[in-house]
Parts: sequence; structure tokens; C-alpha cells
Amino acid sequence: MQKLTRLVKRIEMKLGRTVSLSKKTKSFKPIERLIIFLTSIFIVLVSSHQNIINSEIIFIDLLKISLETFLYCSALIIVSKKENSMISFNQVILLLSFLLLAQVIKTNFEVNPIAIIVPPSLIISQGLGTLTSLTWVAVSAINWPDSTAFNNNDLFLITIISAIIVAIIGGKVRNRAQLLQLAIFVSLGVFIVESILIYDKTPLIGLENSLPIDKIYSQSVAVLVSLLITNLVMPIFESVFGLLTKARLLELADQENPILRRLSIEAPGTYEHTLLICGLAEEATRMIRGDVDLIKTGGLYHDIGKLHAPNWFIENQTEGTNPHEELDDPIKSCQILQKHVDEGLKIAKKNRLPKPIADFIPEHQGTLKMGYFLSKAREKGQNIEENQFRYKGPIPQSKETAILMLADGCEAALRAMDINATDKEAYQTISGIISSREKDGQLSESYLSKAEIFLIKKSFLKVWKRIRHRRIQYPTSKNNTFS
Ligand SMILES: [Fe+2]
Ligand SMILES: [Fe+2]
Repeated sequence: MQKLTRLVKRIEMKLGRTVSLSKKTKSFKPIERLIIFLTSIFIVLVSSHQNIINSEIIFIDLLKISLETFLYCSALIIVSKKENSMISFNQVILLLSFLLLAQVIKTNFEVNPIAIIVPPSLIISQGLGTLTSLTWVAVSAINWPDSTAFNNNDLFLITIISAIIVAIIGGKVRNRAQLLQLAIFVSLGVFIVESILIYDKTPLIGLENSLPIDKIYSQSVAVLVSLLITNLVMPIFESVFGLLTKARLLELADQENPILRRLSIEAPGTYEHTLLICGLAEEATRMIRGDVDLIKTGGLYHDIGKLHAPNWFIENQTEGTNPHEELDDPIKSCQILQKHVDEGLKIAKKNRLPKPIADFIPEHQGTLKMGYFLSKAREKGQNIEENQFRYKGPIPQSKETAILMLADGCEAALRAMDINATDKEAYQTISGIISSREKDGQLSESYLSKAEIFLIKKSFLKVWKRIRHRRIQYPTSKNNTFS
């Protein structure tokens, strides 16, 4: 399994898409596993029902077909889980439903094969990655039962090549305009290839070129129309199945988004802090080849919960006003800080933020200790458990959320540093904060390696050097517990 993980990662790197293989693979509930199993069985039945009807087929062949189909479904699920460790049950069902639909259509109806294979390959590559999409294309192509709809080898090859191109480019497309360009270029490509084939009369496969001339326009038009329709319905798939496409990520990162506008108006200090930590986190994520688009967007939403009470957070306080001092109750202060995580998750739910983005809200705080208020409580002689002064967690489950936690910790300290501080002093500050998070066990489930932590420190220093001349200082607590 480790070899498979390494192979997946290497292929991903070759394809230019970076994914978090660091997350623990999500396991499904027993009922979800049963539904996935039954759906796979249903695909097996649909795929082999024509063979069952055909009385000439012997039992052993039928068993072979069924076993193969079942293995294809399993392979598809394994690859999708490897590429998307936190893939949801709904997303697995979406993958299998596409396969089921493809099997039903190709065994019962005379539908253009491009319309069966190409649109799902685009949706899957956008939402679940290129590798999953390529596997889906392979499974739906290999698992091609006798069909009345499709028996032309050249057409089959053109369909598969179109689907592969869509799967590879679709995984890299960053906005809806590029998706439109992809639809136009792929259909144009199909048109040109088919024109050459008909003109030349040399078959790509086999001895005879049986590509009918009337198919030439219908094929290219089918690609164009199916991809355009897919583009139109993509937001529905994003919303219903929680697919996080690049286009969706960039839309969420638009700072004119109502939640982010509210943050900039109602909590300007938090907004400023957010932009700075996004800069730190983005550089570090690029350095370790993590998902830069994910962290840029997740970072923007990590502290949206502070909208519930902006003035209780130090970055929004003006000089001399600190409601925590007036409250003079460390336990209540600590509850107010924890509330920025709970409220953030509520806002995320209300605004239907995708789960990978919402994960940044609790995980950037992990189970960190609110040390400032803990020592205040001890000074007051209160009998308290240390756990009462810790965030509820969970600790970061991915490299991206871990980097955001580290950036969150370092930002205030770096901003509060003297303008004349040396690079060595800044690096020591960064190292000190990161080591304390490490020793506290906050990074233990993020799978960040020692080498990656070193690169993160170096990239934070690089960003600090870049911004130190235009930084704005705001008051910060000595032990950085207000973030
Ligand atoms: Fe926070
Ligand atoms: Fe923060």
C-alpha cells in the first residue's frame, strides 16, 4: 500500500497537481460501506445482464465478467481514496453513479459514446482530481459490454483520447472561462481528426475505416454541447456533492465575498491579520508542494468566527481598551476565545462553505493552550484543569491546516518584532513558536516531515524579510494567546 501511495504521489507530481496525501484516509460507516458494496453489485448486474439473457454463455464466463466488473469498481474507489483522503460517501456514490449510468446507457440506448464518457470525466477531474478521472475513464472504457450503440473502433479511440485530454486538462483548469476554452478546443480537435480520417480513409485501428461520414459533425458537436452543459451544471454538483473545484476555490477567495467584506468592515484587524498569515502560509505551502489554492482560500476564512465579538480579539482593539480586563474572569475570557471557532463553524455551515475550507476553522487552533488566561487564572488562585484552557480541536489533520496554524502563531510575533531585528532573531522567533507547537503535539497528525518543517521556517523568514519595511505594528500579548 505504501508503494501505491508513493506511485500515486509521483504521478500526481508529474501531472502537476498537488494533493494532500498526508491526511489519514477517511473510513466510512458500516451502512455507507454496505450501500457502496450494493451499488457495485448493481453495476455488475447491469454490466452483465445481457450475458445473463444470452443462454449460450457459460457460467464460468459470467462469473469472470462479474468479478472483473467488481474489481474495476474497487480499483476506482481505491484510487479516488488515495487521491482524496477525505473523500465523502456522497462523492464515492457520485463516482459509482456515473459508472452505473454509463453502463445503463451504453447497454440499452443508442447514444453517442462521447456524451457518455466525456462529461463525467470533466466533473470528476475538476472535483476529485485527474488520477481519479483517468481511472474512471479507464474503467468505463475497459468495462464495455457488447453494445448496439457503439461498435466503431476509430470512434472508440477518439472518445477515449478526448476523455483523457479532458481528464488531464480539466484537473488543472482554474476558472470557468478556461473550461469554455477546453470545450471549444477538444471539439475542434475531434472535428479535425475525424475529417482527416474520412478524407484519408486509413483506419486508426483495424483494417477498415468504417467511420461514417454523417458521424463527423455529430461527434464534434456532441463534445461541444456535452462539455458546455457540464460547465453549466458544474455548480450544482459542487453544491450537492461538496466537490471543491479550482474554480469554486477561486470564487470563494474573492474578497468581495459578503463574509470577507463583513470581516474587513467589522473586524479590520482580523482581516489584516488574515491577509498576512495567508501570505506566510502560501509561501510555505508552495515550498513543500502542498495545495496553494486550498490554503489561500482556507486561510481567508479561518477566523470568520471572530465576527461574533471582534472587540474581544487584540488585533481589533484600540490602545487602552481591553474588555477582558474589565471582565476580569479568565475562564469566561477563554470561553469567548473558543467561541470564535464554534461561531466560525456555524457561519461556514450557514454559507455552505465546502468541508475542506471549514476544516481550517477548528484545526488552525487545534488543542492549543490559552496560556495567557491560564496563568491569569493561576495568579488568581483558581483551581482549574489545564484542559479547560485549551481549544477543543481537532489538531491539524492535513499539512495545509498545520501550516496555517504555524503561520497564525508566527504572524503576531513577527509583526511585533523590532524593525531593526536581524534575520537570525526573526528565525529564532519562528523556530521557537513552531517548536512549541511541535512539542505540544499539535503537528502529530499532520504528517509534516522534519525537512518540511525546516522549509516552512525558511519560507516564513523569507516573507517576513519581504514585508518588514511596510508592516504595521499593533499591540500584542507577551505570550501570544489572543489569536
Ligand atoms: Fe483563530
Ligand atoms: Fe488567526
